[in-house]
Amino acid sequence: MNILRPRQLVGEIAVPGDKSISHRALILDSLAIGNSQINNISPGKDCLSTINCLRALGVRLTKRDGKRPTIMITGVGNAGLTEAKNVLNAGNSGTTIRLLSGVLSTQNFLSIITGDSSLRSRPMKRLIEPLRLMGAEIYGRNEDSLAPLVIRGKKLHGVSYTLPVPSAQIKSAILLAGLFALGATTIKQLQPSRDHTERLLKRMGAKLENNNTYVSLTPVNSPLAAVDLQIPGDISSAAYWLVAGAIHPNAKIKILDCGVNPTRTGIIDALLAMGARLRVENQRLEGNEPVADLHIQSSHLKAIEIGGDLIPRLIDEIPLLAVAACIAEGKTVIRDANELRVKESDRIASTGQELSRLGARIEELPDGMVIHGGKTLLGMEVESHGDHRLAMSLAVAGLVAGGTTSIQNAGVAEISNPDFWEELNKLARY
Ligand code: S3P
Repeated sequence: MNILRPRQLVGEIAVPGDKSISHRALILDSLAIGNSQINNISPGKDCLSTINCLRALGVRLTKRDGKRPTIMITGVGNAGLTEAKNVLNAGNSGTTIRLLSGVLSTQNFLSIITGDSSLRSRPMKRLIEPLRLMGAEIYGRNEDSLAPLVIRGKKLHGVSYTLPVPSAQIKSAILLAGLFALGATTIKQLQPSRDHTERLLKRMGAKLENNNTYVSLTPVNSPLAAVDLQIPGDISSAAYWLVAGAIHPNAKIKILDCGVNPTRTGIIDALLAMGARLRVENQRLEGNEPVADLHIQSSHLKAIEIGGDLIPRLIDEIPLLAVAACIAEGKTVIRDANELRVKESDRIASTGQELSRLGARIEELPDGMVIHGGKTLLGMEVESHGDHRLAMSLAVAGLVAGGTTSIQNAGVAEISNPDFWEELNKLARY
């Protein structure tokens, strides 16, 4: 994919439905009893992996494709899932393998779940450990317990567990396992992570209490109530246009109907702290999730130092924030982001390596990076490392770089946003 710097970035768009919320809606409506309709489901390949796994487990899901895809689900209840006839394939999706492992651990059958080469190298011990404490029989490959995972499902018991990493995928896997277990499940988290599972479980009638530091769930004794949902726009997809709008000298962009759940809005806070001309307007609640319209204009950004509790709130946006930091005035320091090492690529190494090709000056830290800003980027050939977020971050860099930025293996953007290139063409005026 070749990217040139446009004269102007202008217009109004709505990004596809939130990927994290879509996974949860698909799984929980499948586990409920009754029919449901989910509008604006994420069209990304990751959610397709969840859909295909649920189909293989005996759930009827009918997809109506189109600009804003809809899915109809006939929920089978927790007892209605059936053993898959083959190995389940989560593709590139960490959320699929981890959340479904929580569900499969409670089922009275055998499951094997795997994924692509990236997913098969990502840590699963953090998933296996708490599930085993609940009585699960779950095994991974070699001493690191990597996928494929083999799960012999059985009745589990609740657990009281402190998450060693601020991972919403692990928290959600435990909650899904705890939903039909014997006894309550309590999870303590040292840092808050996205709470979409908690919000949806409450909406569906589960007895759940939570705050920034803990979640407590009482198992359900009657099936969950299926709910129709309208999925808000994905802030992790909107973020590319927020940064592009802020760093391009002639930009004015409006993003409609975007999710602004406070556990996900770290990128808004970081950009505001950098001096971005960003406005959040028309805030409302849709299906227990906050939604708003976002406005961004060309800005003069200044460097920031980030770490601590902000990191989980913008974890997927850090490669993109690094692009903003290259342009911002001053030295940006990102710390406490070790988790980036175990994402779809090692995002500390891959972001540093690829942005450096465009002329950025980035020093790697074990848990983050130091970015020397005020740079003029120059288009070159760069590589996505098979990582959707890096591919789109490099495209944003290309929108302000001189010459042509040629991104190899850019098609991987379809993992979260197959509409990304169309959005770019809609906003860019050459
Ligand atoms: C996600 C949680 C985060 C995030 C991922 C999606 C989720 O991962 O990086 O893209 O939907 O729960 P971790 O749980 O590993 O932090």
